[in-house]
Amino acid sequence: MTRHSDGSAGDADYGRIGAGYSRIRRPDPRIAARILAALGDAKTVLNVGAGAGSYEPADRDVTAIEPSESMRAQRPSTRAPAIDATAQDIPFPDDSFDASMATVTVHQWPDRAKGLAEMRRVTRGPVVIMTFDPQPPQHWWLMDYAPEVLEVESRRMPPIRSVVSELGGNAEVIPVPVPADCIDGFAQAFFGRPERLLDPEVRRATSAWSFVSESVVERFEAELGSDLASGAWDAKYGTFRTLPEFDAGLRLVVGRP
Ligand SMILES: C[S@@+](CC[C@H](N)C(=O)[O-])C[C@H]1O[C@@H](n2cnc3c(N)ncnc32)[C@H](O)[C@@H]1O
Repeated sequence: MTRHSDGSAGDADYGRIGAGYSRIRRPDPRIAARILAALGDAKTVLNVGAGAGSYEPADRDVTAIEPSESMRAQRPSTRAPAIDATAQDIPFPDDSFDASMATVTVHQWPDRAKGLAEMRRVTRGPVVIMTFDPQPPQHWWLMDYAPEVLEVESRRMPPIRSVVSELGGNAEVIPVPVPADCIDGFAQAFFGRPERLLDPEVRRATSAWSFVSESVVERFEAELGSDLASGAWDAKYGTFRTLPEFDAGLRLVVGRP
């Protein structure tokens, strides 16, 4: 596949939507703890589709791969610079790392099976994939206000069983509930804070919005804005504000050799 002008190697163009990503998509400590547990006692960790470095453990020797220049530029100076490479062609010999990880990125890869096989090839221990189930287990309000965005997501997100099989078949699937005050600003993080999705910068940090038309976005803003102002949203969906966490389909798939 041809890469976008900033090097982006998936379906989303981070040269266009990447600015501001790291302000909105910051690692959530409760999700980070689950990823850390899945990495076990690995000392060397490869992070593929690393973006600005979310969820890279600070106490391990991390090597990061990230094709988009715009995303590499947002890595904090405390993190190692990322290597310009793609999941489908990882530039390391077999069994180079104790563990590897890829968070909310596999749905963007042009050849996911190849990318996951590459991760398996270069990893001695667990391969930890964080992704969304394309069939969310519960109905939630965004499905009513922006069904087009969630349809884009369900087409892009791979079935969990495919990720398991592409990792070689021996994998554990761990549900990751999204906390009500989730710091990582993917769309599902705002299940109880709908106002936040009226902010264009927040929406830009979730690539699915870049695949729907401007008219869908305008309709979403008008309908949600008016229902929040009138109280109609709270009358119908207000219980979402009271949930401490929500199962939005976020999953860790932990593949073992
Ligand atoms: C939603 S961001 C996630 C970044 C980071 N892992 C995180 O959790 O914030 C998806 C990332 O996947 C990267 N990506 C897309 N296609 C890729 C590919 N073929 N190989 C490696 N990374 C890719 C993008 O450049 C982008 O940085």
